[in-house]
Amino acid sequence: MSKFTSDEIAELNEKLKTPHEVLKWALDNLHPKLALASSFGAEDVAVIDMMTKINPKARIFTLDTGRLNQETYDVMDEIRKKYNVNIEVTFPDVEEVTEMVRVNGMNLFYDSPENRKLCCGIRKVHPLNKMLDTLDGWITGLRSDQTNNRSDATKITIDEQHNSMIKINPIIEWTWDQTWDYIKANNIPYNKLHDKGYPSIGCEPCTRAIKPGEDLRAGRWWWEGKSDRECGLHMEHNK
Ligand code: ADX
Ligand code: SF4
Repeated sequence: MSKFTSDEIAELNEKLKTPHEVLKWALDNLHPKLALASSFGAEDVAVIDMMTKINPKARIFTLDTGRLNQETYDVMDEIRKKYNVNIEVTFPDVEEVTEMVRVNGMNLFYDSPENRKLCCGIRKVHPLNKMLDTLDGWITGLRSDQTNNRSDATKITIDEQHNSMIKINPIIEWTWDQTWDYIKANNIPYNKLHDKGYPSIGCEPCTRAIKPGEDLRAGRWWWEGKSDRECGLHMEHNK
């Protein structure tokens, strides 16, 4: 349960203007029961740079689904070395994965939206929920223009999807270009797939490069056509 009332959260959203101010408040008030969920995409590496400059012990976790790209492991290691941080890596439950692939095969996500959501549930959502149960607050690299679900999200929210804990979205108001300006200005290591036409990066079998003019998330679960392009990590914005 959140230690803060919804009025207090509304006041904070008014008062704290910049990503730096938001992260400083979060780290001062919630660390060490606070961690960034990082997939090591552009947004997340920008947040890692900011938060470790405020508190070098700021916590970072990642959900290793077992299906990530090599480029994602490469940037994870570059970040670990450059910022001298531990990255807390979670893995899916072995029994759940074993049963899922026994019944549905290794590439079940291509067979139906239900199977895709089953896989995201077991490989991402269950490990996330287990991690969040140990925290009072979590930080994300969400930006409001990524999906319709995210357009109303604010910098600090009470996360009703996760036991009303605090969810911090420090760069929710940033554009894609602002994110890249920050990465370049601070010389931050980034996922090399971004140089190969991948703006949004998830798992290897479920993400591909986009063509010029396509939506930035068009390469995620592309075979499903116009779906909500969400895996279930951030469904509370879907009201
Ligand atoms: S997703 O819901 O479609 O998969 P997206 O790739 O847009 O999410 O990332 C949005 C935010 O969710 C990231 O900035 C990060 O905070 C969190 N996130 C996504 N994937 C992971 C992951 N594998 N591990 C940890 N956090 C993640
Ligand atoms: Fe499974 Fe694809 Fe979801 Fe990754 S993105 S968890 S491989 S369905």
